[in-house]
Amino acid sequence: MTDRLVEVTTTVQISVGIITVSDRAAAGDYEDLGGPALKEAAEKNGWQVLAEAIVPDEVERIQETIRSFSEQGCGLILATGGTGVATRDVTPEAIRGVMRVEIPGFGETMRRGSMKITPNAILSRSVGAVVDRSLVLALPGKPSGAVECLGFVVGAIPHAVALAQRVPTSC
Ligand code: MTE
Repeated sequence: MTDRLVEVTTTVQISVGIITVSDRAAAGDYEDLGGPALKEAAEKNGWQVLAEAIVPDEVERIQETIRSFSEQGCGLILATGGTGVATRDVTPEAIRGVMRVEIPGFGETMRRGSMKITPNAILSRSVGAVVDRSLVLALPGKPSGAVECLGFVVGAIPHAVALAQRVPTSC
């Protein structure tokens, strides 16, 4: 029985939604570099990118995009931007407003890894959470930072996505 469950877990295809959260990118004043950087990283991991969006730093827009992507079947939703402490940074609040559970280890691991790269990593309020049937990760807005943070937690993603999607799985 255990062997069968492990086999199911390892064959789960991860479908990804990517959300760039940025007032300037949403207004067209700034080229979105974070979304394409995450798309490239996702595809290198063998995941399929199903949906992409650029939204302003507004709680409701972030929440409705997450829920729509989850409804479309994205088991993993990557948001980049709005994790800091500027007045418009609301990505963690948006996620916490719709999540079933937070998974603190994702934020802790991203900050711990990032602190070895820049002391400014302490400013990111990166989170991981389950929303509907998706694992949602809030990553920093800087494209290299978003890809770095994804790399620090990538090993835990298949199992976390399977749990979020309620696919039979074992540790
Ligand atoms: N983490 C990594 N790995 N690399 C980075 O360059 N930038 C930091 C931090 N985390 C960074 C990082 C900076 S400068 C900020 S202000 C915060 O993420 C928040 O970024 P955000 O508001 O764009 O999400």
